[in-house]
Amino acid sequence: MSYENILVETQDKVGVIRLNRPKALNALSDALMSELGEALLAFDADDGIGCIVITGSEKAFAAGADITGMAGYSYMDVFKGEFITRNWETIRRVRKPVIAAVAGYALGGGCELAMMCDFIIAADTARFGQPEIKLGIIPGAGGTQRLPRAVSKAKAMDLALTGRMMDAEEAERAGLVSRIVAADKLMEEALAAAKTIADMSQPIAMMVKDSVNRAYESTLADGMKYERALFYSCFATDDQKEGMKAFIEKRPPVFKNS
Ligand code: HXC
Repeated sequence: MSYENILVETQDKVGVIRLNRPKALNALSDALMSELGEALLAFDADDGIGCIVITGSEKAFAAGADITGMAGYSYMDVFKGEFITRNWETIRRVRKPVIAAVAGYALGGGCELAMMCDFIIAADTARFGQPEIKLGIIPGAGGTQRLPRAVSKAKAMDLALTGRMMDAEEAERAGLVSRIVAADKLMEEALAAAKTIADMSQPIAMMVKDSVNRAYESTLADGMKYERALFYSCFATDDQKEGMKAFIEKRPPVFKNS
């Protein structure tokens, strides 16, 4: 499959998607988001892939939704055209873990896309923000919903109301990113993390993702019940048998994804 706005490659059980509109700092056009969705679903369906990495360029993960594309939209264009729901949420259907490897700007829809991934590894050059207010709109792909869950109400309000950017250090302190690495080591670190995950049992990694995501959408009691049901079901897998047998035999496990 060839794409115009993204570059796609496979590296040792890891699917890598690079956002690639350098002239517009990877602004997330409709076409780009559709291609991203297609590529994500293709990797998700590929048994040879255990983890996916989404990244951008050194200068920008993505500077937001494409402002030139949106500028002329009417209410009916966005309402009837299902702007956002049509292709921005495809990533939520992906069951395998997805890592965002962020260098440079992750603004507006770019920050929202990074937050839709399962975790964010940031280069020390990363800058996050929800500057939509400066354009006369509010965030539309989770900025007012995922950001407060990730960084607290105070920080989310500060960012979304002033439109200011926060650097990687502040983002890590606030809990938005899981780790910061030197910019020139970003892909090396992200691929190593992805490979570690891809070497685990795929169905079990999918259950971890599913269960952690549940924490955002349920009460503690419901979430605990959900986790317990998934935990019990691990014991119906070959990979649980192999994982524990390998530990007892003091050797690395060989998971069969079954
Ligand atoms: C379209 C964009 C763009 C964007 C940058 N460009 N961001 N084009 N949409 N979001 C283009 C610029 O127009 C310019 O094109 C080229 O990329 C380089 O950008 P510069 O501004 O010249 O670079 P620089 O001076 O380094 O400033 C970088 C920047 C700035 C601070 C990131 O570009 C910026 O503020 N961008 C907009 C950020 C933003 O407001 N994002 C939120 C978008 S709304 P030319 O042709 O002039 O070289 C959003 C809503 C999501 O995301 C809702 C859910 C769908």
